[in-house]
Amino acid sequence: NQQRITIIGSSNIDMVAQVPHLPKPGETVGNAIYMQSFGGKGANQAVAAARLGGNITFVTSLGNDMYATLLTEHFKNNNIDTHYIQYSSDTSTGTALIFVSDDAENCIAVAPGANAELSIDKIQSFEAAVISSSIVIMQAEIPYETIKEISLLAHKKGVKVMVNPAPAVPIDLDFMKSIDILVVNETEAEIVSGLNIKKDGIKKISQELSSKGPKCVVVTLGSKGVYCLCHQKEYTVDSFKVKAIDTTGAGDTFCGALAIALAENEMSIKALQYASAAAAISVTRMGAQPSIPYKEEVIKFLKEQNINL
Ligand code: RIB
Ligand code: NA
Repeated sequence: NQQRITIIGSSNIDMVAQVPHLPKPGETVGNAIYMQSFGGKGANQAVAAARLGGNITFVTSLGNDMYATLLTEHFKNNNIDTHYIQYSSDTSTGTALIFVSDDAENCIAVAPGANAELSIDKIQSFEAAVISSSIVIMQAEIPYETIKEISLLAHKKGVKVMVNPAPAVPIDLDFMKSIDILVVNETEAEIVSGLNIKKDGIKKISQELSSKGPKCVVVTLGSKGVYCLCHQKEYTVDSFKVKAIDTTGAGDTFCGALAIALAENEMSIKALQYASAAAAISVTRMGAQPSIPYKEEVIKFLKEQNINL
């Protein structure tokens, strides 16, 4: 009987233009390749955790359009419990407009749409899922007040809380106190800590963040690997060398995979390697959700790197 992991967050339709280079202001790039796929940080994390074998409940808000039906089916096909999904009556599903260049740089504009409607007053309709989970995971593409409230609730009920404040937002002290695992990239680490990586260094920033509450602070450093400070203990993991095609959703894949590794175990190098491997595979393929690997692929990848789980 597997522990439930509940993910509360955004769903987006990603409209992706693959371009030789990112257009400059006023420039038209005429030979883009277009792709539409499923994204949104919440949905990406839910799909990642589900493909890696978790018992996943996903709470999200979808719009009053055909995407709501498509996405619900898609989540079900990925073995995700869709029981608590909300449907807006007057807004469209969230949309992300994404440019990805040939050297795997990207830039993204998000129109939140129905994601903005996952407001604090909706929490009671999915509270049951939150408090019956072993861990809840949230990002910052739904209203701040909502993720804060869920975090306080989960913490009070003894449910582990993982927060990935992406896109970067400052987090107040009450909220910080309720977080068990904080996962940030370098930008987010700076915004949340108010410190500067170049000047203060990753270790000091992680100590500062951890002193506000989170027992584990995980800093993803892209091609420089992962740094983690957990119960005062440091862990560092190198990145896997892969050819990056599209890094969109790599951080989400990392979070979903880390949640799987931590749902029933303590922090370890192996947990961080597992999450890094899942993220590494995802950057070798286009799109967010289309690129998220299944468990067998991650295990095979780790074997090829001579890492046994
Ligand atoms: O983290 C990647 C996601 O951010 C994309 O799927 C896009 O929807 C944006 O929200
Ligand atoms: Na990808």
